Amino acid sequence: MRLLAIGDVVGGVGLSALLESLPRLREHYAPDLMIVNAENSANGTGTSPRQAQELLDAGVDVLTGGNHTFRKRELFPLLNSEPRVLRPHNLAVKGPGTGLAVVPVDGDRNAAVINLLGAIFMDAAMSPFAIVDELVEKARERATFVFVDIHAEATSEKIALGRYLDGRVTGVFGTHTHVQTADDQLLAAGTAYISDLGMTGPHDSVIGVAADIILSRFLTGAPGRFEVADGDVRVQGAVIDADDGGLATAIQRIDLPIED
Ligand SMILES: [Fe+2]
Ligand SMILES: [Fe+2]
Repeated sequence: MRLLAIGDVVGGVGLSALLESLPRLREHYAPDLMIVNAENSANGTGTSPRQAQELLDAGVDVLTGGNHTFRKRELFPLLNSEPRVLRPHNLAVKGPGTGLAVVPVDGDRNAAVINLLGAIFMDAAMSPFAIVDELVEKARERATFVFVDIHAEATSEKIALGRYLDGRVTGVFGTHTHVQTADDQLLAAGTAYISDLGMTGPHDSVIGVAADIILSRFLTGAPGRFEVADGDVRVQGAVIDADDGGLATAIQRIDLPIED
C-alpha cells in the first residue's frame, strides 16, 4: 500500500499547482491513498467548501486541517457532512467535524487518518497525547493502515508523538511549519516518520506570504494585510509504503518545482 501525503496547500496558487500536477504525481507514484493538508488553501487561512470539493473531486481521499480550519465558517457544514474532510480532533472540545476518517484502499482493506494539533505554541483544546491512544484504538479496529497528521509548531512535540506511536501506526507526518524537514525515516518498530511535509505553494515568500509584508510587520510592528506570494511554486510532501501488516517499509520526501 502506498500513501501520497501533501503538505500545507497555500492559496489558490498552491491549489492550482497541486491540481495541475496530480495526474503526473499519480502516474509517477501510483498511490493507493492520497492525503492533503488544506488548512491554508483559502488565500492563506482556512479552506473554502468549493476548494475542498475540488480536491475530493480530483481524487484526494482525505483532507486534513490545522489551526486555521475554523477560520472559514462556510466550511462547517462540510466538516459535519463529509467524513473525508477533517479538522484536528483536539482543535476544540465541541464544534463541527472530527479528526478521524476511515476510507477504503485497495479492495477490502481500510486506511484511517487521524488529524491532531500540537499543544506547544498552538491553541489546542487539550494535549494530543491525552487523546491519541483512544483515536488509534478506534482507527485500528476498522483499518489496517493508520496515518497521523500532527499539525504542530514544535519539532520536539512531533518527534515525541512519532516515537510514542512507533509500531502502532503506519506513519506519522507533521504539517504546519511550511518548511520540509530532512528527517524522513523508519522508526525502530516500523512507523514511517517525517517532522514536516513542507508547503505546496510559493516558496519565494515567508512561509507562503509575500516577504515584504512579513518583513515590514517584523520591522515596524504594524499589522499588514497578508497576501499569498506567487514565486517558486512547489508541491511538497512524502510517499510512504506499507506492508500487508500495516507497518511502513519506506518513506521518501517529495519536492516538485512547478514551472510557470
Ligand atoms: Fe499551514
Ligand atoms: Fe497551521
